[in-house]
Amino acid sequence: MSNGLLALAISSTTPALAAPDGAALFMRCAACHLPTGEGVPGSFPALRGQIVRFARKPAGREYMVTVVTHGLTGALTANGAVFDNFMPAQVLTDDQAAAVLTYVANDIAGAKPPVRPFTPAEVAAIRARHQAASAQASRTLRPDALAGK
Ligand code: HEC
Repeated sequence: MSNGLLALAISSTTPALAAPDGAALFMRCAACHLPTGEGVPGSFPALRGQIVRFARKPAGREYMVTVVTHGLTGALTANGAVFDNFMPAQVLTDDQAAAVLTYVANDIAGAKPPVRPFTPAEVAAIRARHQAASAQASRTLRPDALAGK
């Protein structure tokens, strides 16, 4: 193999150097929340204004990270609709969780101005604080006052 081909082979097998693609990762979420994030009444909440409000406050960011890392279950009201369903924990690295949550807040929920991006270090710190968490425990972290009705 020439040096040029070797360099090409190495660069195409080191995806860790590139930031994860939030839009591509959102395909996993879209299976339930739909590609637009509009959700399904009674089953999957829309990822809309409540997500923007959560992402602007530390407590809300902690909740969003915990929902993806540990799942979520329990009754809640989002955008005027009631849900009492179950979201499984999502298998994501810290980089991937940060990328997909930033994408959800800024692109799917359309935050204007954009929210501060979630960082891998922030996700790691929240994960470390909630090692024994569960889908039920995530519900207790939801800042319902920010969610509105
Ligand atoms: C298998 C279906 C499913 C998948 C996949 C899924 N979710 Fe969920 N999600 C749910 C359900 C169901 C709820 C509501 C749980 C309840 O009723 O307690 C929820 C709730 C949420 C909430 C909380 C909304 C609120 O108003 O409190 C966020 C944030 C969220 N999901 C983000 C994501 C992201 C980001 C992904 C992809 C990485 C994802 N979800 C993947 C089913 C899913």
